[in-house]
Amino acid sequence: MSPSAHLLVARELTKSYAGVARGSFGAPRSGAARVDALVDVSFELAHGERLAVVGESGSGKSTLVKALLALAPLDRGRVELAPRAGPRLDWLALSKRERSHARRWIQPVFQAPMESLNPRRPVLASLAEPLFVHGLARGSEAETRALALAQRVGLEPETTARFPHELSLGQAQRACLARALAPGPELLLLDEPTSALDVGLQAQIVDLLAELARERSLAILFVSHDLDLVRYFADRVLVLERGRLVEAGPVERVLGAPEHPHTRALVRAWGAA
Ligand SMILES: Nc1ncnc2c1ncn2[C@@H]1O[C@H](COP(=O)(O)OP(=O)(O)OP(=O)(O)O)[C@@H](O)[C@H]1O
Ligand SMILES: [Mg+2]
Repeated sequence: MSPSAHLLVARELTKSYAGVARGSFGAPRSGAARVDALVDVSFELAHGERLAVVGESGSGKSTLVKALLALAPLDRGRVELAPRAGPRLDWLALSKRERSHARRWIQPVFQAPMESLNPRRPVLASLAEPLFVHGLARGSEAETRALALAQRVGLEPETTARFPHELSLGQAQRACLARALAPGPELLLLDEPTSALDVGLQAQIVDLLAELARERSLAILFVSHDLDLVRYFADRVLVLERGRLVEAGPVERVLGAPEHPHTRALVRAWGAA
């Protein structure tokens, strides 16, 4: 694969936190070891590819997502981003200003949809905002585009006139998706996007995501504990164990015939659940 076939190339992402080791009776001890949240994690993501990240609790999945959103600085590592519609970027090395422009290519969809919409503004304003911010549309054109996006994710125009607290959880999740799509991203990042939703709603949102991804050739990187969802939705999967990438490959191979003991344990635990 030529380098340009990749939307994102991550190299040696490394991050540790000051660990809080506990002595007797839970008292903090000095000289505590650091916690390795990510250790030399390297991977690629092709344009339009769906990549799942799995691993037990504390294995570094959210740290990885935060690093890719540049929300948590890394100790070391490099992320190259090559959007089809824009210049190649040394993503983590960008200045704040450059990154806020470039953020249109990578959009997050957060787990708590209500909390991630502006509580003081009607939903339509939240959907139009990325269009203003990225200079893609203004005034009535932004409104028209925001309404079209809302419709695409299954929200009635009347719904977009409401405030976030007046929405159902499913509607709020759809609004968050519409807002993420507004600036025309090439990659969506989702950290356990459906874990707050009930099973029926999960299926609707996942199918909507799949349709949108196909229709817009979006790449998706998502974290999930749900191996059925991973099998259904992802092309490839990364397996993390204590911050290290222990296995990676096509979903059918990795989950069907896992090679690493940690992946085997995850698959076994899921089967037994
Ligand atoms: N802000 C922080 N300060 C200190 N340690 C942290 C911080 N954030 C994460 N960690 C530690 O880094 C490691 C990785 O955490 P992370 O949140 O990335 O795991 P995760 O795979 O997302 O887990 P989960 O499945 O429970 O969400 C854990 O040991 C965690 O305790
Ligand atoms: Mg997490």
